[in-house]
Amino acid sequence: MRESILRVDNAHVHYGGIQALKGISLVVFRGEIVTLIGANGAGKTTLLKAIMGLESLAEGSILYKEKVIFEVFSDRSHTVSTPTHLLPGKGLVLVPEGRGIFPELTVRENLEMGAFLQRDKKRIEKNLQEVYQWFPVLKDRAHQRAGYLSGGELQMLAIGRAMMAEPELLLLDEPALGLAPLMVQRIFEIITKLNTEKKLSVLLVEQNAKQALKIAHRGYVLETGRLVLSGSGQELLDNPEVKRAYLGG
Ligand SMILES: Nc1ncnc2c1ncn2[C@@H]1O[C@H](COP(=O)(O)OP(=O)(O)O)[C@@H](O)[C@H]1O
Ligand SMILES: [Mg+2]
Repeated sequence: MRESILRVDNAHVHYGGIQALKGISLVVFRGEIVTLIGANGAGKTTLLKAIMGLESLAEGSILYKEKVIFEVFSDRSHTVSTPTHLLPGKGLVLVPEGRGIFPELTVRENLEMGAFLQRDKKRIEKNLQEVYQWFPVLKDRAHQRAGYLSGGELQMLAIGRAMMAEPELLLLDEPALGLAPLMVQRIFEIITKLNTEKKLSVLLVEQNAKQALKIAHRGYVLETGRLVLSGSGQELLDNPEVKRAYLGG
């Protein structure tokens, strides 16, 4: 069987009485870009948080590189939980919604925070130079406060910071949100290039369904906590329901 880098099985997450995820199962195979589309409030961020241990499962399991990192039986007779801060060291890295950049710190300081588990100074410097090659604008602005960056530059900084942790699977939460169309295109080009050239596996969460599905190998559609459709990126782009609900006709 093909090796999965991420497998979510029957994931349930509750916020008090709200059932945000009602039994989600999905897989990302190594080397894939998988897109999860869904309207505002569908549960996309909750799923990414659950994968990182930032929200607890009420039930279900999450396997990373085919090893259980989180698991909860509904009767709580069995639970497995991995500390969130250890996950980047295993290559599992989230670029959060809103990007999570520290505006008072410089661009370089923000990038260095992505390497918080790395003790080898030479390796940090090598990774930093690689990020600067990917995003020359971050090198130009290395010593400026991140708060002065444009939306697109902030997203590049957020992705660059994730790269400092040497990810194998990148979780991206709405990287195109609030960006101008040309910048949206740039960001999706970068995601594609990270996948083809650096062999990163990607789980991409987007409301911007059209472009996200275009660059995805496969996709899933999430509606109020349940997956309602899955298929190749092209199949979903051609699907009449997806067209009507997410692609504006
Ligand atoms: N911290 C929270 N407390 C209570 N409800 C929440 C919380 N975070 C999200 N929700 C609710 O869970 C549902 C899914 O939210 P979310 O995962 O943020 O959706 P999406 O990222 O798809 O917009 C929504 O109904 C939202 O209001
Ligand atoms: Mg969200």
